[in-house]
Amino acid sequence: MGSRLLVESHKEVEIVCGIVAITSEKLFSVKKDLLFGLKKLEYRGYDSAGFATTEGNYGKEVGDIDNLLRSTQKDFLTKTAISHTRWATHGGVTKQNAHPHFDAKKEVFLVHNGIIENFLELKAALEAKGYIFRTETDTEVIVNFLHDRMKTSKPIDAMRDFMKAAKGTYAVVFFKTGSDKLYAMKKDSPLCLGVSKGRVFVASDIYAFSHETDRVIFFEDYEMAEVSPQGFQFFGMSGPMKKEPVQIQWEREPVIKKHFDHFMLKEICEQPAAVERLLHSLKTTQAKRMGEIADMVRGCKRIFFLACGTSYHAALIGSYLLSRLGFEAHAVIASEFEDFSIIDKDTVVFAVSQSGETMDVITVLKDIKRFNPKIIAIVNYPYSSVHRMADNYIEIMAGQEICVAATKTFTNTLVAIYELARVLRNHIVLDRIPSIIEEVISENESNVKRLAKKLKDKHDIFVLGHRVSYPIAREIALKLKEISYVHAEGMMAGELKHGTIALIEPGVPVIGLVHESNRDRMDSALREVQARGADVYKIGNHSKDFMLPDGLNEEEYSIVSTIIGHLLAYHIAKLNGLPIDKPRNLAKSVTVK
Ligand code: M6R
Repeated sequence: MGSRLLVESHKEVEIVCGIVAITSEKLFSVKKDLLFGLKKLEYRGYDSAGFATTEGNYGKEVGDIDNLLRSTQKDFLTKTAISHTRWATHGGVTKQNAHPHFDAKKEVFLVHNGIIENFLELKAALEAKGYIFRTETDTEVIVNFLHDRMKTSKPIDAMRDFMKAAKGTYAVVFFKTGSDKLYAMKKDSPLCLGVSKGRVFVASDIYAFSHETDRVIFFEDYEMAEVSPQGFQFFGMSGPMKKEPVQIQWEREPVIKKHFDHFMLKEICEQPAAVERLLHSLKTTQAKRMGEIADMVRGCKRIFFLACGTSYHAALIGSYLLSRLGFEAHAVIASEFEDFSIIDKDTVVFAVSQSGETMDVITVLKDIKRFNPKIIAIVNYPYSSVHRMADNYIEIMAGQEICVAATKTFTNTLVAIYELARVLRNHIVLDRIPSIIEEVISENESNVKRLAKKLKDKHDIFVLGHRVSYPIAREIALKLKEISYVHAEGMMAGELKHGTIALIEPGVPVIGLVHESNRDRMDSALREVQARGADVYKIGNHSKDFMLPDGLNEEEYSIVSTIIGHLLAYHIAKLNGLPIDKPRNLAKSVTVK
Protein backbone atom coordinates (compact mmCIF):
# COMPACT_ATOMS: atom_id res chain seq x y z
CA MET A 1 0.00 0.00 0.00
CA GLY A 2 1.91 3.02 -1.25
CA SER A 3 -0.10 5.87 0.13
CA ARG A 4 1.21 8.54 2.37
CA LEU A 5 0.10 9.52 5.82
CA LEU A 6 -0.23 12.84 7.50
CA VAL A 7 0.91 12.54 11.07
CA GLU A 8 1.92 14.81 13.85
CA SER A 9 5.49 15.53 14.76
CA HIS A 10 4.99 17.94 17.60
CA LYS A 11 4.99 17.48 21.33
CA GLU A 12 2.05 19.72 21.99
CA VAL A 13 -0.37 17.14 20.61
CA GLU A 14 -2.34 15.59 23.43
CA ILE A 15 -2.04 12.05 24.14
CA VAL A 16 -10.63 5.43 22.80
CA CYS A 17 -9.09 2.93 24.81
CA GLY A 18 -5.54 3.28 23.64
CA ILE A 19 -2.63 1.02 24.46
CA VAL A 20 1.08 1.76 24.21
CA ALA A 21 3.77 -0.61 25.46
CA ILE A 22 7.52 -0.44 24.97
CA THR A 23 10.29 -2.92 25.54
CA SER A 24 13.77 -1.52 25.01
CA GLU A 25 17.45 -2.49 25.29
CA LYS A 26 18.18 0.85 26.95
CA LEU A 27 16.35 2.52 29.80
CA PHE A 28 13.55 4.88 28.76
CA SER A 29 11.45 7.40 30.64
CA VAL A 30 7.85 6.57 31.44
CA LYS A 31 6.81 10.21 31.23
CA LYS A 32 8.83 11.33 28.22
CA ASP A 33 8.70 8.21 26.08
CA LEU A 34 5.80 5.98 27.10
CA LEU A 35 3.21 8.61 28.02
CA PHE A 36 4.26 10.79 25.08
CA GLY A 37 3.15 7.96 22.79
CA LEU A 38 0.00 7.43 24.84
CA LYS A 39 -0.92 11.10 24.50
CA LYS A 40 -1.06 10.61 20.76
CA LEU A 41 -3.80 8.02 21.32
CA GLU A 42 -5.87 10.16 23.63
CA TYR A 43 -8.49 10.50 20.88
CA ARG A 44 -9.41 6.90 21.82
CA GLY A 45 -10.70 7.94 25.22
CA TYR A 46 -9.76 10.07 28.15
CA ASP A 47 -11.81 8.87 31.13
CA SER A 48 -8.70 7.66 32.96
CA ALA A 49 -5.14 6.63 32.23
CA GLY A 50 -2.36 4.56 33.75
CA PHE A 51 0.99 2.85 33.29
CA ALA A 52 3.06 0.05 34.85
CA THR A 53 6.74 -0.86 34.61
CA THR A 54 8.23 -4.29 34.84
CA GLU A 55 9.74 -3.37 38.21
CA GLY A 56 6.18 -3.24 39.55
CA ASN A 57 5.88 0.56 39.67
CA TYR A 58 2.55 1.80 38.45
CA GLY A 59 0.31 4.87 38.39
CA LYS A 60 -3.33 5.46 37.53
CA GLU A 61 -5.47 8.56 37.50
CA VAL A 62 -9.01 9.56 36.60
CA GLY A 63 -9.10 12.11 33.77
CA ASP A 64 -6.83 12.62 30.83
CA ILE A 65 -3.13 11.90 30.41
CA ASP A 66 -2.09 15.38 31.49
CA ASN A 67 -3.77 14.62 34.77
CA LEU A 68 -1.81 11.39 35.06
CA LEU A 69 1.40 13.27 34.26
CA ARG A 70 0.64 15.87 36.91
CA SER A 71 -0.18 13.31 39.58
CA THR A 72 2.88 11.18 38.81
CA GLN A 73 5.47 13.17 40.67
CA LYS A 74 8.36 10.82 40.09
CA ASP A 75 9.41 9.71 36.64
CA PHE A 76 10.49 6.07 36.22
CA LEU A 77 13.29 4.79 34.06
CA THR A 78 12.65 1.27 32.86
CA LYS A 79 13.22 -1.12 29.97
CA THR A 80 9.70 -2.53 29.74
CA ALA A 81 6.38 -0.84 30.46
CA ILE A 82 2.73 -0.69 29.40
CA SER A 83 0.22 2.17 29.40
CA HIS A 84 -3.45 2.77 28.68
CA THR A 85 -5.96 5.55 28.16
CA ARG A 86 -9.52 4.45 28.88
CA TRP A 87 -13.01 4.97 27.51
CA ALA A 88 -15.17 3.22 30.08
CA THR A 89 -17.41 0.31 29.07
CA HIS A 90 -17.61 -2.02 32.08
CA GLY A 91 -17.34 -0.23 35.38
CA GLY A 92 -17.46 3.45 36.26
CA VAL A 93 -14.74 6.01 35.71
CA THR A 94 -12.70 5.41 38.87
CA LYS A 95 -9.03 5.07 39.68
CA GLN A 96 -9.68 1.46 40.70
CA ASN A 97 -11.18 0.66 37.27
CA ALA A 98 -8.37 2.41 35.37
CA HIS A 99 -5.80 0.20 33.62
CA PRO A 100 -3.30 -1.44 34.01
CA HIS A 101 -4.95 -4.26 35.96
CA PHE A 102 -2.99 -6.83 37.93
CA ASP A 103 -3.45 -9.99 39.96
CA ALA A 104 -3.46 -9.94 43.75
CA LYS A 105 0.30 -10.59 43.97
CA LYS A 106 1.12 -8.05 41.26
CA GLU A 107 2.90 -10.70 39.21
CA VAL A 108 1.14 -9.85 35.98
CA PHE A 109 0.22 -6.33 34.75
CA LEU A 110 -2.11 -5.99 31.78
CA VAL A 111 -3.88 -3.44 29.57
CA HIS A 112 -6.90 -4.14 27.35
CA ASN A 113 -9.01 -2.45 24.69
CA GLY A 114 -12.35 -4.10 23.91
CA ILE A 115 -15.14 -5.91 25.75
CA ILE A 116 -15.17 -9.43 27.16
CA GLU A 117 -18.82 -10.42 26.76
CA ASN A 118 -18.70 -13.60 28.89
CA PHE A 119 -16.62 -12.06 31.64
CA LEU A 120 -19.15 -12.98 34.36
CA GLU A 121 -18.91 -16.65 33.46
CA LEU A 122 -15.08 -16.54 33.37
CA LYS A 123 -15.02 -14.57 36.59
CA ALA A 124 -17.19 -17.14 38.42
CA ALA A 125 -14.82 -19.92 37.39
CA LEU A 126 -11.81 -17.94 38.66
CA GLU A 127 -13.55 -17.03 41.91
CA ALA A 128 -14.16 -20.73 42.46
CA LYS A 129 -10.39 -21.12 42.28
CA GLY A 130 -9.86 -18.46 44.96
CA TYR A 131 -9.25 -15.34 42.78
CA ILE A 132 -10.54 -12.17 44.37
CA PHE A 133 -11.74 -9.32 42.15
CA ARG A 134 -11.30 -5.70 43.22
CA THR A 135 -12.65 -3.79 40.20
CA GLU A 136 -15.86 -3.67 38.18
CA THR A 137 -14.05 -4.24 34.89
CA ASP A 138 -14.15 -7.15 32.47
CA THR A 139 -10.38 -6.70 32.09
CA GLU A 140 -9.57 -8.02 35.54
CA VAL A 141 -10.89 -11.38 34.34
CA ILE A 142 -8.22 -11.48 31.62
CA VAL A 143 -5.35 -10.80 33.97
CA ASN A 144 -6.51 -13.39 36.49
CA PHE A 145 -7.25 -15.95 33.77
CA LEU A 146 -3.73 -15.58 32.36
CA HIS A 147 -2.17 -15.55 35.82
CA ASP A 148 -3.95 -18.80 36.64
CA ARG A 149 -2.98 -20.53 33.39
CA MET A 150 0.64 -19.33 33.56
CA LYS A 151 1.10 -21.29 36.79
CA THR A 152 1.36 -24.37 34.58
CA SER A 153 1.67 -23.09 30.98
CA LYS A 154 3.82 -20.76 28.93
CA PRO A 155 2.36 -17.28 28.28
CA ILE A 156 1.57 -18.11 24.63
CA ASP A 157 -0.37 -21.22 25.65
CA ALA A 158 -2.17 -19.26 28.36
CA MET A 159 -3.21 -16.65 25.75
CA ARG A 160 -4.34 -19.41 23.38
CA ASP A 161 -6.51 -20.85 26.18
CA PHE A 162 -7.93 -17.42 26.82
CA MET A 163 -8.82 -16.91 23.15
CA LYS A 164 -10.63 -20.25 23.15
CA ALA A 165 -12.56 -19.40 26.32
CA ALA A 166 -13.35 -15.69 25.76
CA LYS A 167 -16.20 -14.16 23.78
CA GLY A 168 -15.84 -10.55 22.78
CA THR A 169 -13.28 -8.18 21.43
CA TYR A 170 -9.80 -7.53 22.74
CA ALA A 171 -6.38 -6.14 22.15
CA VAL A 172 -4.30 -7.11 25.17
CA VAL A 173 -0.70 -6.46 26.20
CA PHE A 174 0.85 -7.72 29.42
CA PHE A 175 4.14 -8.52 31.12
CA LYS A 176 5.22 -10.66 34.02
CA THR A 177 6.87 -8.51 36.69
CA GLY A 178 10.65 -8.66 36.48
CA SER A 179 10.72 -9.84 32.85
CA ASP A 180 11.68 -7.69 29.84
CA LYS A 181 9.19 -9.47 27.56
CA LEU A 182 5.84 -8.19 26.45
CA TYR A 183 3.01 -10.51 25.41
CA ALA A 184 0.18 -9.43 23.16
CA MET A 185 -2.94 -10.87 21.51
CA LYS A 186 -5.77 -9.50 19.47
CA LYS A 187 -9.29 -10.22 18.28
CA ASP A 188 -11.31 -7.44 16.59
CA SER A 189 -9.72 -4.51 18.44
CA PRO A 190 -6.70 -3.10 16.58
CA LEU A 191 -3.13 -3.79 17.63
CA CYS A 192 0.20 -3.32 15.90
CA LEU A 193 3.90 -3.63 16.51
CA GLY A 194 6.44 -0.87 15.75
CA VAL A 195 9.96 -2.09 15.24
CA SER A 196 12.77 0.35 16.00
CA LYS A 197 16.48 -0.14 16.72
CA GLY A 198 16.80 -1.86 20.10
CA ARG A 199 13.22 -1.02 20.92
CA VAL A 200 9.84 -2.52 20.06
CA PHE A 201 6.44 -0.89 20.57
CA VAL A 202 3.06 -2.57 20.84
CA ALA A 203 0.20 -0.13 20.39
CA SER A 204 -3.41 0.34 19.35
CA ASP A 205 -2.35 2.25 16.32
CA ILE A 206 0.71 3.40 14.44
CA TYR A 207 0.50 7.02 15.59
CA ALA A 208 1.74 5.98 19.02
CA PHE A 209 5.23 5.44 17.57
CA SER A 210 5.15 7.50 14.35
CA HIS A 211 7.87 9.77 15.84
CA GLU A 212 10.28 6.85 16.11
CA THR A 213 9.73 4.19 13.47
CA ASP A 214 7.99 3.51 10.19
CA ARG A 215 8.35 -0.30 10.37
CA VAL A 216 5.05 -1.86 11.36
CA ILE A 217 3.39 -5.25 11.71
CA PHE A 218 -0.38 -5.41 12.12
CA PHE A 219 -1.86 -8.17 14.28
CA GLU A 220 -4.69 -10.11 12.64
CA ASP A 221 -7.42 -11.76 14.70
CA TYR A 222 -6.33 -14.64 16.92
CA GLU A 223 -2.68 -13.74 16.56
CA MET A 224 -0.30 -13.43 19.51
CA ALA A 225 3.27 -12.23 19.92
CA GLU A 226 6.12 -12.56 22.36
CA VAL A 227 8.14 -9.36 22.16
CA SER A 228 11.58 -8.54 23.54
CA PRO A 229 13.89 -5.55 22.87
CA GLN A 230 15.81 -7.64 20.35
CA GLY A 231 12.85 -8.90 18.38
CA PHE A 232 9.54 -10.65 18.29
CA GLN A 233 7.90 -13.94 17.49
CA PHE A 234 4.33 -14.18 16.26
CA PHE A 235 2.02 -17.14 16.92
CA GLY A 236 -1.32 -18.24 15.49
CA MET A 237 -3.73 -20.63 17.14
CA SER A 238 -1.80 -23.57 15.72
CA GLY A 239 1.80 -22.47 16.31
CA PRO A 240 4.60 -19.99 15.48
CA MET A 241 4.28 -17.89 12.34
CA LYS A 242 6.58 -15.57 10.42
CA LYS A 243 5.54 -11.97 9.95
CA GLU A 244 7.69 -9.17 8.51
CA PRO A 245 7.29 -5.42 9.07
CA VAL A 246 5.83 -3.25 6.30
CA GLN A 247 7.24 0.21 5.74
CA ILE A 248 4.83 3.07 6.25
CA GLN A 249 5.35 6.30 4.33
CA TRP A 250 4.85 9.11 6.82
CA GLU A 251 4.38 12.68 5.85
CA ARG A 252 4.77 14.72 8.97
CA GLU A 253 2.84 17.85 9.72
CA PRO A 254 2.88 19.69 13.02
CA VAL A 255 -0.21 19.35 15.14
CA ILE A 256 -0.32 22.42 17.32
CA LYS A 257 -3.16 24.75 18.19
CA LYS A 258 -1.24 27.74 16.81
CA HIS A 259 -3.09 30.90 17.84
CA PHE A 260 -6.42 29.08 18.14
CA ASP A 261 -8.04 28.49 21.52
CA HIS A 262 -9.16 25.01 20.51
CA PHE A 263 -8.27 22.35 17.99
CA MET A 264 -11.89 22.41 16.79
CA LEU A 265 -11.61 26.00 15.56
CA LYS A 266 -8.18 25.39 14.09
CA GLU A 267 -9.48 22.33 12.23
CA ILE A 268 -12.50 24.23 10.90
CA CYS A 269 -10.24 27.05 9.69
CA GLU A 270 -7.73 24.78 7.96
CA GLN A 271 -10.41 23.34 5.66
CA PRO A 272 -9.51 25.37 2.57
CA ALA A 273 -6.04 23.79 2.63
CA ALA A 274 -7.38 20.34 3.49
CA VAL A 275 -9.87 20.41 0.60
CA GLU A 276 -7.23 21.77 -1.77
CA ARG A 277 -4.88 18.93 -0.83
CA LEU A 278 -7.60 16.33 -1.41
CA LEU A 279 -8.72 17.81 -4.73
CA HIS A 280 -5.14 17.81 -5.93
CA SER A 281 -4.61 14.18 -4.96
CA LEU A 282 -7.91 13.16 -6.56
CA LYS A 283 -6.61 14.61 -9.82
CA THR A 284 -3.19 13.01 -9.47
CA THR A 285 -2.22 10.18 -7.13
CA GLN A 286 -5.76 9.03 -6.40
CA ALA A 287 -7.20 9.57 -9.90
CA LYS A 288 -6.57 6.00 -11.07
CA ARG A 289 -8.14 4.49 -7.96
CA MET A 290 -11.15 6.80 -8.27
CA GLY A 291 -11.56 5.59 -11.87
CA GLU A 292 -11.45 1.95 -10.71
CA ILE A 293 -14.00 2.65 -8.00
CA ALA A 294 -16.30 4.40 -10.49
CA ASP A 295 -16.05 1.30 -12.72
CA MET A 296 -17.02 -0.92 -9.76
CA VAL A 297 -20.05 1.28 -9.15
CA ARG A 298 -21.07 1.23 -12.82
CA GLY A 299 -20.88 -2.56 -12.85
CA CYS A 300 -22.81 -3.27 -9.66
CA LYS A 301 -26.47 -3.89 -8.86
CA ARG A 302 -26.67 -1.98 -5.58
CA ILE A 303 -24.61 0.25 -3.37
CA PHE A 304 -24.53 0.58 0.38
CA PHE A 305 -22.86 3.32 2.34
CA LEU A 306 -22.02 2.04 5.79
CA ALA A 307 -21.07 4.45 8.57
CA CYS A 308 -21.76 5.89 12.03
CA GLY A 309 -22.23 9.39 13.47
CA THR A 310 -20.91 12.24 11.39
CA SER A 311 -19.59 9.87 8.73
CA TYR A 312 -23.16 8.54 8.37
CA HIS A 313 -24.31 12.04 7.45
CA ALA A 314 -21.74 12.11 4.63
CA ALA A 315 -22.85 8.59 3.68
CA LEU A 316 -26.47 9.74 3.47
CA ILE A 317 -25.46 12.45 1.02
CA GLY A 318 -23.60 9.80 -0.97
CA SER A 319 -26.78 7.73 -1.22
CA TYR A 320 -28.79 10.77 -2.36
CA LEU A 321 -26.25 11.64 -5.08
CA LEU A 322 -25.82 8.14 -6.46
CA SER A 323 -29.59 7.55 -6.38
CA ARG A 324 -29.97 10.70 -8.45
CA LEU A 325 -27.51 9.28 -10.96
CA GLY A 326 -29.77 6.23 -11.35
CA PHE A 327 -28.04 3.75 -9.02
CA GLU A 328 -29.75 1.80 -6.28
CA ALA A 329 -27.96 3.34 -3.31
CA HIS A 330 -28.69 3.20 0.42
CA ALA A 331 -26.97 4.58 3.49
CA VAL A 332 -27.22 2.42 6.60
CA ILE A 333 -25.98 3.09 10.10
CA ALA A 334 -23.48 0.33 10.80
CA SER A 335 -25.00 -0.81 14.09
CA GLU A 336 -28.38 -1.36 12.33
CA PHE A 337 -27.00 -3.02 9.20
CA GLU A 338 -27.88 -6.65 9.86
CA ASP A 339 -31.66 -6.37 9.41
CA PHE A 340 -31.56 -4.30 6.26
CA SER A 341 -29.26 -5.45 3.64
CA ILE A 342 -28.98 -7.83 0.75
CA ILE A 343 -25.30 -8.29 0.07
CA ASP A 344 -23.85 -10.31 -2.76
CA LYS A 345 -20.97 -10.17 -5.23
CA ASP A 346 -22.80 -7.49 -7.25
CA THR A 347 -22.97 -5.17 -4.26
CA VAL A 348 -20.57 -2.32 -3.61
CA VAL A 349 -20.21 -1.32 0.04
CA PHE A 350 -18.62 2.02 0.85
CA ALA A 351 -17.29 1.84 4.39
CA VAL A 352 -17.09 5.48 5.44
CA SER A 353 -15.01 6.03 8.56
CA GLN A 354 -12.54 8.83 9.09
CA SER A 355 -10.63 6.82 11.72
CA GLY A 356 -11.02 3.51 9.93
CA GLU A 357 -11.28 1.92 13.38
CA THR A 358 -14.97 2.21 14.27
CA MET A 359 -15.96 -1.20 15.65
CA ASP A 360 -19.58 -1.02 14.44
CA VAL A 361 -18.30 -0.63 10.88
CA ILE A 362 -15.62 -3.29 11.23
CA THR A 363 -18.13 -5.79 12.64
CA VAL A 364 -20.36 -5.43 9.57
CA LEU A 365 -17.43 -5.72 7.18
CA LYS A 366 -16.31 -8.94 8.86
CA ASP A 367 -19.80 -10.33 8.63
CA ILE A 368 -20.49 -9.49 4.99
CA LYS A 369 -17.12 -10.58 3.60
CA ARG A 370 -18.49 -14.12 3.11
CA PHE A 371 -20.93 -12.77 0.44
CA ASN A 372 -18.03 -11.31 -1.57
CA PRO A 373 -19.22 -7.72 -1.99
CA LYS A 374 -16.76 -5.13 -3.25
CA ILE A 375 -15.70 -3.06 -0.27
CA ILE A 376 -14.42 0.46 -0.74
CA ALA A 377 -13.02 2.29 2.26
CA ILE A 378 -13.33 6.05 2.55
CA VAL A 379 -10.90 6.85 5.36
CA ASN A 380 -8.61 9.52 6.66
CA TYR A 381 -6.16 6.88 7.88
CA PRO A 382 -4.66 4.47 5.43
CA TYR A 383 -3.47 1.27 7.11
CA SER A 384 -6.43 1.50 9.47
CA SER A 385 -8.52 -1.65 9.99
CA VAL A 386 -11.29 -0.55 7.60
CA HIS A 387 -8.77 0.24 4.91
CA ARG A 388 -7.04 -3.11 5.33
CA MET A 389 -10.37 -4.94 4.98
CA ALA A 390 -11.30 -3.14 1.75
CA ASP A 391 -10.76 -4.00 -1.94
CA ASN A 392 -10.05 -0.39 -2.78
CA TYR A 393 -10.03 2.92 -0.97
CA ILE A 394 -10.12 6.68 -1.08
CA GLU A 395 -7.93 8.57 1.35
CA ILE A 396 -9.60 11.83 2.34
CA MET A 397 -6.31 13.51 3.32
CA ALA A 398 -7.71 15.86 5.93
CA GLY A 399 -4.60 15.62 8.11
CA GLN A 400 -4.82 14.57 11.71
CA GLU A 401 -7.96 15.75 13.49
CA ILE A 402 -7.44 16.13 17.22
CA CYS A 403 -10.80 17.49 18.35
CA VAL A 404 -13.24 14.67 19.06
CA ALA A 405 -15.85 16.38 16.91
CA ALA A 406 -15.32 15.66 13.23
CA THR A 407 -15.19 18.82 11.14
CA LYS A 408 -12.54 18.86 8.40
CA THR A 409 -12.81 15.09 8.01
CA PHE A 410 -16.55 15.48 7.32
CA THR A 411 -15.91 18.11 4.67
CA ASN A 412 -13.21 16.06 3.00
CA THR A 413 -15.37 12.92 3.05
CA LEU A 414 -18.07 14.92 1.26
CA VAL A 415 -15.58 16.21 -1.29
CA ALA A 416 -14.39 12.64 -1.98
CA ILE A 417 -18.00 11.48 -2.49
CA TYR A 418 -18.74 14.48 -4.72
CA GLU A 419 -15.66 13.65 -6.79
CA LEU A 420 -16.95 10.10 -7.24
CA ALA A 421 -20.28 11.48 -8.46
CA ARG A 422 -18.38 13.84 -10.76
CA VAL A 423 -16.33 11.00 -12.24
CA LEU A 424 -19.52 8.99 -12.77
CA ARG A 425 -21.21 11.86 -14.55
CA ASN A 426 -19.27 14.99 -15.29
CA HIS A 427 -21.79 17.44 -13.84
CA ILE A 428 -20.26 18.93 -10.70
CA VAL A 429 -17.68 21.67 -10.28
CA LEU A 430 -15.63 21.31 -7.12
CA ASP A 431 -12.65 23.58 -7.72
CA ARG A 432 -14.14 26.68 -6.08
CA ILE A 433 -14.77 24.98 -2.73
CA PRO A 434 -11.52 26.02 -0.96
CA SER A 435 -11.92 29.73 -1.72
CA ILE A 436 -15.63 29.68 -0.92
CA ILE A 437 -14.93 28.12 2.48
CA GLU A 438 -12.34 30.79 3.15
CA GLU A 439 -14.76 33.57 2.27
CA VAL A 440 -17.67 32.13 4.27
CA ILE A 441 -15.56 31.67 7.40
CA SER A 442 -14.10 35.16 7.28
CA GLU A 443 -17.37 36.93 6.49
CA ASN A 444 -19.50 35.19 9.10
CA GLU A 445 -17.47 35.31 12.29
CA SER A 446 -19.53 38.06 13.86
CA ASN A 447 -22.80 36.59 12.54
CA VAL A 448 -22.05 33.23 14.13
CA LYS A 449 -20.99 34.80 17.41
CA ARG A 450 -24.15 36.94 17.49
CA LEU A 451 -26.39 33.91 16.99
CA ALA A 452 -24.39 31.87 19.52
CA LYS A 453 -25.12 34.52 22.13
CA LYS A 454 -28.84 34.30 21.40
CA LEU A 455 -28.88 30.51 21.54
CA LYS A 456 -26.48 29.79 24.37
CA ASP A 457 -29.14 29.24 27.03
CA LYS A 458 -31.67 27.42 24.86
CA HIS A 459 -32.60 23.85 25.76
CA ASP A 460 -33.81 22.72 22.33
CA ILE A 461 -32.84 23.73 18.83
CA PHE A 462 -34.44 22.40 15.65
CA VAL A 463 -32.48 22.30 12.41
CA LEU A 464 -34.46 21.76 9.22
CA GLY A 465 -33.19 20.65 5.83
CA HIS A 466 -34.51 19.17 2.61
CA ARG A 467 -32.76 17.06 -0.04
CA VAL A 468 -28.98 17.35 0.36
CA SER A 469 -29.42 19.77 3.25
CA TYR A 470 -31.34 17.17 5.33
CA PRO A 471 -28.17 15.22 6.24
CA ILE A 472 -26.52 18.57 6.93
CA ALA A 473 -29.34 19.44 9.34
CA ARG A 474 -28.61 16.19 11.18
CA GLU A 475 -24.91 16.91 11.21
CA ILE A 476 -25.40 20.38 12.67
CA ALA A 477 -27.77 18.97 15.30
CA LEU A 478 -25.20 16.30 16.23
CA LYS A 479 -22.55 18.95 16.78
CA LEU A 480 -24.93 21.05 18.88
CA LYS A 481 -25.45 17.97 21.08
CA GLU A 482 -21.89 16.73 21.34
CA ILE A 483 -20.04 20.02 21.68
CA SER A 484 -22.62 22.49 23.04
CA TYR A 485 -24.63 19.96 25.11
CA VAL A 486 -27.88 21.42 23.70
CA HIS A 487 -30.66 19.06 22.75
CA ALA A 488 -31.03 19.48 19.00
CA GLU A 489 -32.98 17.72 16.28
CA GLY A 490 -31.94 17.68 12.65
CA MET A 491 -35.09 17.07 10.65
CA MET A 492 -36.50 16.70 7.17
CA ALA A 493 -38.40 19.94 6.71
CA GLY A 494 -41.34 18.08 5.21
CA GLU A 495 -41.67 15.74 8.21
CA LEU A 496 -42.02 18.46 10.80
CA LYS A 497 -45.75 18.90 10.28
CA HIS A 498 -46.27 15.16 10.82
CA GLY A 499 -45.60 15.37 14.54
CA THR A 500 -42.61 17.34 15.80
CA ILE A 501 -44.32 20.65 15.12
CA ALA A 502 -46.19 20.02 18.40
CA LEU A 503 -42.96 21.09 20.14
CA ILE A 504 -42.79 24.45 18.43
CA GLU A 505 -43.87 27.31 20.68
CA PRO A 506 -42.94 30.97 20.91
CA GLY A 507 -39.18 31.47 21.25
CA VAL A 508 -38.10 27.99 20.11
CA PRO A 509 -35.12 28.40 17.75
CA VAL A 510 -35.40 26.82 14.32
CA ILE A 511 -32.49 26.93 11.87
CA GLY A 512 -33.44 26.45 8.22
CA LEU A 513 -30.96 25.30 5.58
CA VAL A 514 -32.21 27.02 2.46
CA HIS A 515 -30.74 26.60 -1.04
CA GLU A 516 -32.21 27.18 -4.49
CA SER A 517 -32.69 23.42 -4.88
CA ASN A 518 -34.97 23.18 -1.84
CA ARG A 519 -36.33 26.67 -1.44
CA ASP A 520 -40.08 25.97 -1.89
CA ARG A 521 -40.29 23.22 0.68
CA MET A 522 -37.98 24.96 3.11
CA ASP A 523 -39.92 28.20 2.84
CA SER A 524 -43.22 26.52 3.63
CA ALA A 525 -41.77 24.61 6.62
CA LEU A 526 -40.22 27.77 8.00
CA ARG A 527 -43.48 29.70 7.52
CA GLU A 528 -45.29 26.97 9.46
CA VAL A 529 -42.96 27.27 12.46
CA GLN A 530 -42.89 31.05 12.26
CA ALA A 531 -46.70 31.08 12.45
CA ARG A 532 -46.32 29.28 15.82
CA GLY A 533 -43.90 31.83 17.20
CA ALA A 534 -40.57 30.06 16.53
CA ASP A 535 -37.43 32.17 16.17
CA VAL A 536 -36.32 31.33 12.65
CA TYR A 537 -32.71 31.68 11.44
CA LYS A 538 -31.69 30.87 7.89
CA ILE A 539 -28.43 29.64 6.47
CA GLY A 540 -28.76 30.48 2.79
CA ASN A 541 -28.72 33.23 0.20
CA HIS A 542 -30.73 36.33 0.95
CA SER A 543 -30.63 35.47 4.64
CA LYS A 544 -30.34 38.26 7.19
CA ASP A 545 -28.44 35.91 9.49
CA PHE A 546 -25.46 34.75 7.40
CA MET A 547 -23.61 35.92 4.30
CA LEU A 548 -23.22 33.31 1.60
CA PRO A 549 -21.81 33.99 -1.86
CA ASP A 550 -24.38 34.07 -4.66
CA GLY A 551 -24.81 31.18 -7.02
CA LEU A 552 -23.50 28.36 -4.82
CA ASN A 553 -24.12 24.95 -6.29
CA GLU A 554 -25.65 22.30 -4.01
CA GLU A 555 -22.29 20.74 -3.19
CA GLU A 556 -20.71 24.05 -2.25
CA TYR A 557 -23.79 24.99 -0.24
CA SER A 558 -23.76 21.71 1.70
CA ILE A 559 -20.17 22.33 2.76
CA VAL A 560 -20.43 25.96 3.78
CA SER A 561 -23.75 25.50 5.60
CA THR A 562 -22.15 22.69 7.61
CA ILE A 563 -19.23 24.93 8.46
CA ILE A 564 -21.54 27.65 9.74
CA GLY A 565 -23.36 25.03 11.85
CA HIS A 566 -20.07 23.67 13.21
CA LEU A 567 -18.92 27.19 14.08
CA LEU A 568 -22.22 27.87 15.80
CA ALA A 569 -21.85 24.75 17.97
CA TYR A 570 -18.28 25.82 18.71
CA HIS A 571 -19.20 29.35 19.83
CA ILE A 572 -22.16 28.21 21.96
CA ALA A 573 -19.85 25.74 23.71
CA LYS A 574 -17.20 28.41 24.17
CA LEU A 575 -19.64 30.89 25.68
CA ASN A 576 -20.75 28.18 28.09
CA GLY A 577 -17.19 27.26 29.04
CA LEU A 578 -17.44 23.65 27.84
CA PRO A 579 -14.48 21.31 27.14
CA ILE A 580 -14.76 21.68 23.38
CA ASP A 581 -11.98 19.41 22.18
CA LYS A 582 -12.80 16.62 24.61
CA PRO A 583 -16.54 16.62 25.29
CA ARG A 584 -17.84 14.44 28.10
CA ASN A 585 -18.47 10.71 27.52
CA LEU A 586 -17.14 10.73 23.96
CA ALA A 587 -14.15 9.28 22.17
CA LYS A 588 -12.97 10.17 18.72
CA SER A 589 -12.76 6.62 17.53
CA VAL A 590 -15.29 4.23 19.05
CA THR A 591 -13.49 0.91 19.01
CA VAL A 592 -16.13 -1.04 20.95
CA LYS A 593 -19.63 -2.26 19.99
O1 M6R B 1 -14.11 7.43 12.72
P1 M6R B 1 -15.49 7.38 12.20
O2 M6R B 1 -15.76 8.33 11.11
O3 M6R B 1 -15.95 5.96 11.84
O4 M6R B 1 -16.39 7.84 13.45
C1 M6R B 1 -17.79 7.73 13.40
C2 M6R B 1 -18.43 8.47 14.58
O5 M6R B 1 -18.08 7.87 15.79
C3 M6R B 1 -18.00 9.95 14.62
O6 M6R B 1 -18.32 10.57 13.42
C4 M6R B 1 -18.70 10.68 15.78
O7 M6R B 1 -20.07 10.81 15.48
C5 M6R B 1 -17.99 12.02 16.01
N1 M6R B 1 -18.04 12.31 17.40
C6 M6R B 1 -18.61 13.13 15.27
O8 M6R B 1 -18.20 14.40 15.57
